[in-house]
Amino acid sequence: MNDKKNLSRRSFIKASATTAAGVSLVGLAGCTEQVKSTSAGAFASGSDKIRVGLIGCGGRGTGAMANCVKSSPGIEVYAMGDVFQDRLDGSVKSLKNYKPDGNNAYSGNGVPPEVFNVPKERRFVGFDAFEKVIATDCDMVILATPPHFRPQHLKAAIEAGKHVFMEKPVAVDPVGIRSVIESSNIAKRKSLAIVAGTQRRHQKHYIELIKRVKNGDIGDIVSGQCYWNMGTLWSHKRQPGWSDMEYQLRNWLYYTWLSGDHIVEQHVHNIDVINWAIGANPVKCMGMGGRQVRTEPIYGNVFDHFAVEFEYPNGVKVSSMCRQTKGCTNNVSERVVGTKGTMHCDEGITGARPYKYDGPNPNPYVEEHAHLIASIRSGRPLNEGKRIAESTLCAIMGRMSAYTGRAMKFDWAMNASKLKLGPDNYEFGDLETVPVSVPGKTPLI
Ligand SMILES: NC(=O)c1ccc[n+]([C@@H]2O[C@H](COP(=O)([O-])OP(=O)(O)OC[C@H]3O[C@@H](n4cnc5c(N)ncnc54)[C@H](O)[C@@H]3O)[C@@H](O)[C@H]2O)c1
Repeated sequence: MNDKKNLSRRSFIKASATTAAGVSLVGLAGCTEQVKSTSAGAFASGSDKIRVGLIGCGGRGTGAMANCVKSSPGIEVYAMGDVFQDRLDGSVKSLKNYKPDGNNAYSGNGVPPEVFNVPKERRFVGFDAFEKVIATDCDMVILATPPHFRPQHLKAAIEAGKHVFMEKPVAVDPVGIRSVIESSNIAKRKSLAIVAGTQRRHQKHYIELIKRVKNGDIGDIVSGQCYWNMGTLWSHKRQPGWSDMEYQLRNWLYYTWLSGDHIVEQHVHNIDVINWAIGANPVKCMGMGGRQVRTEPIYGNVFDHFAVEFEYPNGVKVSSMCRQTKGCTNNVSERVVGTKGTMHCDEGITGARPYKYDGPNPNPYVEEHAHLIASIRSGRPLNEGKRIAESTLCAIMGRMSAYTGRAMKFDWAMNASKLKLGPDNYEFGDLETVPVSVPGKTPLI
């Protein structure tokens, strides 16, 4: 890779923002800096493009790439990598299937043909596809594999000097969390951006609500509740010729080493909102859960329900629940209760100073990329790495507590736990399924 060329191209990317109008990022992920946004006119020369590589070409990765292109002018889809050829091919097809009038916020409706520049030589397959994408002349990478691989991929991207958009969650165990924090610190020193796929942090109505909570509109926070209770998700039948590794990768949601379990994979969104509103991480937690309905071997070794009590500084207690079970009441939300009012994530604030957000609600999956790209071009890159690592750790703690039956302190999980999930080497072949955890028997590591 030509570092000199990259450097001057990146300086140009930065400089091209100086003519543009200001966009406020106040309230984003606790970030209070003011960055300049870009205007279409700043991209006339074409040499200020931001080339983006995609690592993990599944549903969200493909959507995130399209969201990124839609968010800002001057984005080029430049390289793609996946462990499986069919997933890579499917993603290429979806990105090329551009629907300018489409309204699928999540999957993004493809990209205009003129920004798709991924010839066969920049399409990579295998466990080392991430290294090959990173080794291209891209400026930024989107990391959207199952979360197990995030620490390794983030480290490689930051070492190579790439800006990063990474999907949540960002690890599945405390060892991975510590690695993400280390990479985020290096990114800070290198002025590289890291934005995480916790899109609520970039969503207008959430930003307005949390601003008011921080302004004291609900008084002192005394408690909170958060939920991700839903039905079931997809799974894939084993096909002839699939090794254990391939089967687990294709059904990654159901293997704790790959997904972190659904408390980490999904509920991290809601826990992150609570951490944001309270402005702190929990001090400790006590969780429970089990595998009551989804018991067949096709569901690997994850639980189907969890309930966790998190305790924050000053004794503030937050109850958290998540469930993946068909035929039950669904609820995906957060609530924060204060001495003078309550913040309900969807309805607004009730109490002494009631408030309802009725402004525009642009697609947060696009907004997060707009904020990321604007921050890169302003030369003041956002860095959400530590924050999302901490929120992910909170979800991991809840899982560890439920799996073992043991109460757990944040500091212990962050600094002392040696838990590292998954095989030592990634190769297609035999791979035993770790038995389902049993509280009271599964050891705390
Ligand atoms: N922010 C959100 O609202 C949101 C929504 C959905 C998913 N996600 C997150 O996005 C990530 C991906 O989820 P998804 O729904 O796209 O799953 P997916 O299964 O559709 O895609 C994952 C892709 O990664 C590939 N992959 C697996 N291991 C790999 C490796 N080692 N190297 C390269 N590629 C690899 C898979 O083959 C697959 O194509 C997860 O972390 C998930 O939690 C976030």
